[in-house]
Amino acid sequence: MSHSSFLWGVATSAYQIEGAAENDWTDWERQARLKVPDERCGAGAGHRERWRADLSLIPSVGANAYRLSVERSVVEPESGFFSDEALAFERRRVDALVRMGIEPMVTLHHYTHPLWFWADGGWEDPGSIASFRRYAATVADALGPGVRHWVTLNEPIVFLLGGYLGGLIPPGQRRFAGAARALEHLLRAHTEAAAVVRERIPGARIGIAHNMLDFAPERRGSALDRRLARAGERLYNAALLEAIATGRMDWAFPGSGRARFAVPGFPEANDFVGVNYYSRVHIRFRGVPGSVGGFAYRDPAARGLTDTGWEIHPEGFDRVLRQAENAGRPILVTENGIATRNDAVRRDFLREHALVLRHRLSAGAPIEGYFYWSLLDNFEWLEGFRPRFGLFEVDYSTFARRRRPSADLFAELGRGFTRAADGSASAAGRR
Ligand code: FCB
Repeated sequence: MSHSSFLWGVATSAYQIEGAAENDWTDWERQARLKVPDERCGAGAGHRERWRADLSLIPSVGANAYRLSVERSVVEPESGFFSDEALAFERRRVDALVRMGIEPMVTLHHYTHPLWFWADGGWEDPGSIASFRRYAATVADALGPGVRHWVTLNEPIVFLLGGYLGGLIPPGQRRFAGAARALEHLLRAHTEAAAVVRERIPGARIGIAHNMLDFAPERRGSALDRRLARAGERLYNAALLEAIATGRMDWAFPGSGRARFAVPGFPEANDFVGVNYYSRVHIRFRGVPGSVGGFAYRDPAARGLTDTGWEIHPEGFDRVLRQAENAGRPILVTENGIATRNDAVRRDFLREHALVLRHRLSAGAPIEGYFYWSLLDNFEWLEGFRPRFGLFEVDYSTFARRRRPSADLFAELGRGFTRAADGSASAAGRR
């Protein structure tokens, strides 16, 4: 690894903290298609106005890295037309990070799209590949060599399940054939984006942030639940890891269809595997036409579900990290976090997940970093502002930030990881 230390970071995405004038998500909100129908992201957590002050919070939580995203609707307001002003803003932001000794990790696609992208046919259209390549090249040119870590796509499988199969997020479709085509184009877009970023930034390290869940059958005694849990696990976790390892994708949704294709150059286009881990799901076979089964969050350990209704399950973190190693790449935990108003619960969560991380590292796992989701409270995709993921609390009536005690714990835990990685007291700021 070129960097001298373990990356101990915090993560955000552009839309969730700063909103956008108009993109597919603002449109979705206008159509009242969120779970909270009258919620609007607006200015998110007000980050665009407060970006300098927000960035100064990063070293205060002991982080030496920051994952942020570029909002495509802002930098590319029309297809092929890029806003110099918006790109200059992005550049100022990463330059400020680099000056602070914070390693930036830039995500190019984090759920949102410009409206023109859908008018042009979206991810089902093969033109999406060249268009993404052009966007990636332009952003890489604008941001320059200060950005060595790049995430092309955040959670492509979740995006497809939610947007192309479940009708839950834009583009709100429910067709396996469309999802399969979009998947192929996303992976090819990643491959081409990796190439143009590397051309511009020698030594850049590129990956995908892959959401992984732990899976269990709802009824342990049910062979059908067990089988469906295995199929879900393949579709959700394993298929993408396999594609990274082999360049071949085999994606099957029980009861809906199966897509098999090769993506030439895909394995080489992944320098690391990004893992986003939050929880475990229990799978139950239903077997009614159009709905083979369902998933639910349970709380067998009686820790209490999080404010998004998710199980707290650090054991699953261990399992998915082991599984991610199958792709044969270094691993970066690109997201891990909890929505809770009870900061003591967040501190337990952090301690337990850090312990898992520590164990995997002691066992020799090639894990090179960990990013907590999130630096501050923000707009959560389906649920709006209610879930509180931040190390800093946001008062949405004034946009004031207030440090939570878990920020201190995060800094303390981080010292153990950054020290262990390079043998010095603190690696933040070292090049
Ligand atoms: C992940 C998303 C991130 C955030 C967290 C809670 O799936 O990548 O934007 O919403 O969940």
